[in-house]
Amino acid sequence: MSQQLEIDHPQTQPTSAPYGKHTRRNPEVRPCHSPYGEPVPTDEPDYVRLNRANWDDRAPIHAAAPDYQVQAFLDHPRHLSGVVRFDLPRLGDVTGLEGIHLQCHIGTDTISLARLGAQMTGLDLSGASLAEARRLAAAVGADIDYIESDVYAAPAALDGRAFDLVYVSLGAICWLPSVDRWAEVVDALLRPGGRLFIRDSHPMLDSLDAVSGDLVSRWPYFEQPDPVVWDEAATYVGATKGDAHTITHSVTHSWNHGLGETVSALLRRGLRVTMLEEHDSVPFAPFPDLMTVDDLGEWRLTEHPNRVAMSFTLGAVKPG
Ligand SMILES: C[S@@+](CC[C@H](N)C(=O)[O-])C[C@H]1O[C@@H](n2cnc3c(N)ncnc32)[C@H](O)[C@@H]1O
Repeated sequence: MSQQLEIDHPQTQPTSAPYGKHTRRNPEVRPCHSPYGEPVPTDEPDYVRLNRANWDDRAPIHAAAPDYQVQAFLDHPRHLSGVVRFDLPRLGDVTGLEGIHLQCHIGTDTISLARLGAQMTGLDLSGASLAEARRLAAAVGADIDYIESDVYAAPAALDGRAFDLVYVSLGAICWLPSVDRWAEVVDALLRPGGRLFIRDSHPMLDSLDAVSGDLVSRWPYFEQPDPVVWDEAATYVGATKGDAHTITHSVTHSWNHGLGETVSALLRRGLRVTMLEEHDSVPFAPFPDLMTVDDLGEWRLTEHPNRVAMSFTLGAVKPG
């Protein structure tokens, strides 16, 4: 594909994960199905409030960390995120498409899609993430709209606007309690003939933990009504010297969704699944001691990489 040949491929690759709770699975952190706390004076669910506060804390840390390669975006007008470079052979031509990137975080994948020729809108819950995304887009002259919203409120936040492409990248749907509601949103955001492209961490990976050097099934594979609750005052990027930002909002709530549950949710909305690939790699290191990184920044098990599905790519089309 000609797009691939035209892309700069700098040597600097992320060496740790940009994506969520996974990079450091601290066995000392004990998720629990905690009861929600006292009622708060808002109709917003607790998980939204807690997760937003956590991502607001992480955003400036991520924007300053080498892992997200913000400087490479500033220095090289054709630089793409490692995530989008991995997507390229599967993504298809996005030139001229109107795209929405759900859970866009600080916008590095969003800008990459814009650089491939899509007219992008990014949506995220975290205002601090969007502040970083807007700053980067302005600095590189990318024309991207950023909308602050919960995914489940996206159709209303976007006034019913529909898109040619709904794009979702790693570390996304684990923050949503119901994959069925997510599929409903994807359907609502697609115009007839439009398509979904998602690469996310594999639910098999998200069910595992490392215990004494072995991987064991520790968290639910299938979607559960209650979240897994994490309390971790750390994030997954390398520390930046002099960075004064800290994570004070350390509690997050997440959910796993079985692969069949995700596919079935899309089928129930009438979408036609056009691609489903499972990968033995993921662009971050959930179990650093057991994994090896390749030239593209993809991590896989050093021994027996054929035993664990680490991520998946799924494509689906809304019938025209
Ligand atoms: C790991 S990041 C997104 C992945 C993206 N590939 C990246 O690393 O740049 C997760 C993002 O999901 C956002 N998020 C979490 N829950 C959300 C929700 N309910 N609605 C919208 N965004 C949400 C967070 O604010 C965060 O920016």
